[in-house]
Amino acid sequence: MSTATYDLDMQKMFAAVSDLYARYWGDYFHFAIFENEVQPWEQALENTHRAYMNALKIEQARRVLDIACGRGGFARLMAENTPGEVLGIDISESQLSHARRLERHNLGFRRHDAMKIDALEQTFDAVSFLDAACYLPDKPLAMRRIRHVMEPGARLLLVDWCRRERLSAVQQDLVLAPFMKYWGVPYLETRARYERLFSRSGYRLLEVDDLNDRVAPNWELGYQRALRALDELSARDLPKLIWNGMRLGREGIELIKDQFPAAVYIKVGFDIGFLRYVYFLVQAA
Ligand SMILES: C[S@@+](CC[C@H](N)C(=O)[O-])C[C@H]1O[C@@H](n2cnc3c(N)ncnc32)[C@H](O)[C@@H]1O
Repeated sequence: MSTATYDLDMQKMFAAVSDLYARYWGDYFHFAIFENEVQPWEQALENTHRAYMNALKIEQARRVLDIACGRGGFARLMAENTPGEVLGIDISESQLSHARRLERHNLGFRRHDAMKIDALEQTFDAVSFLDAACYLPDKPLAMRRIRHVMEPGARLLLVDWCRRERLSAVQQDLVLAPFMKYWGVPYLETRARYERLFSRSGYRLLEVDDLNDRVAPNWELGYQRALRALDELSARDLPKLIWNGMRLGREGIELIKDQFPAAVYIKVGFDIGFLRYVYFLVQAA
């Protein structure tokens, strides 16, 4: 995917896969953090959301931004738990078509590119950015621009898919490159690179955590859901999954099919530890 076309490419990909993921994943597309191996997934996800909202001090926030809100589940939860206003933005109209079902008096959604956050011309005191920064073509630039829309002392919770430090070229080619190609991910940061870029971009690091061990049940679950989809879906179902706001034809079918090898490579990437799921809580200095 080229930097010049990422906007259109992202819109196409999610126009093809939004309904597929809505059917098999629901309104959220991020991982639950588990306290132990026997905890039910729903309970782990509920506790994860509670912890994220506490980290963002959502109960005191006046203006909250959810960047790359997807199908809107977490933005909706935040809106239910804050007296403030919540704005969810996403680059994909098809994702937003799901999110808009969840609008309420203090929650709105808008199509907007995370790379151009400064053009929002509003400031916020809590910002969430879950499982989506990996898609950005220039993460340092995005983080600098996000800082511009944060009030001093405002908090940003970034949870992102990163790569392990010091991977060899062949390790990256064999495991990460295929999944990145299928998902339109231009490159992955490492934890250390994020830490450096935060400290250089006007943020104070409050907490960093590599969550791989605690989110492990999710990729088994994701893989099982992909298998279930394979078992249930026939060739005739695929065109019906494509969002009708975009005419994709054959390209849309290929994008849906790409999700299945992606699921396999993602499982391998996490099982072998090359893919890392990292939590960053930072504050505008
Ligand atoms: C894996 S989903 C995560 C959605 C949501 N944050 C969640 O956790 O449920 C990734 C989302 O990132 C959005 N996205 C990708 N690139 C974007 C960009 N440049 N600006 C805004 N949204 C973007 C996609 O449209 C998609 O909805």
